[in-house]
Amino acid sequence: MMTDFATWVATRQTSFESVLQRLLPPPGIAPQRLHQAMRYSVLEGGKRVRPLLAYAAGELAGAAVARVEVAAAAAELIHAYSLVHDDMPCMDDDVLRRGKATCHVEYDEATALLVGDALQSLAFQLLAERALHDDAKRQLQMVKLLALASGSRGMAGGQALDLAGVGQQLTLPELEQMHIHKTGALIRAAILLGAYCGDRLSDAQLERLDHFGKLIGLAFQVVDDVLDCEADTATLGKTAGKDADHAKPTYVSLLGLAGAKEMAQRLHGEALQCLDEFGDAARRLRELADFIVLRKF
Ligand code: IPE
Ligand code: IPE
Ligand code: MG
Ligand code: MG
Ligand code: MG
Repeated sequence: MMTDFATWVATRQTSFESVLQRLLPPPGIAPQRLHQAMRYSVLEGGKRVRPLLAYAAGELAGAAVARVEVAAAAAELIHAYSLVHDDMPCMDDDVLRRGKATCHVEYDEATALLVGDALQSLAFQLLAERALHDDAKRQLQMVKLLALASGSRGMAGGQALDLAGVGQQLTLPELEQMHIHKTGALIRAAILLGAYCGDRLSDAQLERLDHFGKLIGLAFQVVDDVLDCEADTATLGKTAGKDADHAKPTYVSLLGLAGAKEMAQRLHGEALQCLDEFGDAARRLRELADFIVLRKF
């Protein structure tokens, strides 16, 4: 019998925490302050949605857990770096993240900048030095996949659109582009990275999975916009209401709360359709999609 979703999540979150503990540089090794700040920014916090998606996709593709967890760590390190930089005064200027002081507040701005740099490098180091697939060509594809998802045509590019959009009234397609890039790209990559560690899926199936990732990655940011407006700071572990305060274009500012929620529901439904052909083997991905759209934090 399959374990229930909550148990599946808790088990993976716990083992993933020790994976990160092990893969991050030890705090006692020089440069200590940088290593401590990296660990502060990555460990003990966060929902670990991208790693969970990678695990679920890995299970679907018949991948070895020891491989998937490295790919999952690479995605989570890029995510953690993006949060550290996103919170800096030159970007969203936030003081609270995952229920504690943001990296630049706890340490200093220069350290936060370097934490982001170093986490990004570590992510690619892991993808390059650990065996993730017997076919070296496939592994090289994984490096490229994460690079594209993180760079100017992925997350960093989306962040640039976000900053350029402050105070602007974007069109719906413009907003979609921004969200697909700043948040969707990495979520999509995390799913494919997990799947690429295994061999069970055909190219057509990988394409379906990629489309699922595109839709659920966009839905993730739509829900983030809704929560920023609707949830409270204690629940979120980050300052609520800051999108409106900072005049950010969001799905809520463009469509209103009800419209944004409807959009998330629609994307959820479309995402689930992509998984139909996989039957019960895609159960965890379905449950994660439900969590992404129904979550309260
Ligand atoms: C927050 O991501 C930033 C976005 C990309 C919307 P998460 O909501 O996944 O943050 P953590 O990792 O759980 O803290
Ligand atoms: C974050 O978007 C996207 C990235 C970090 C790449 P937000 O700025 O909305 O994320 P939060 O709300 O601060 O977590
Ligand atoms: Mg931001
Ligand atoms: Mg932010
Ligand atoms: Mg937000």
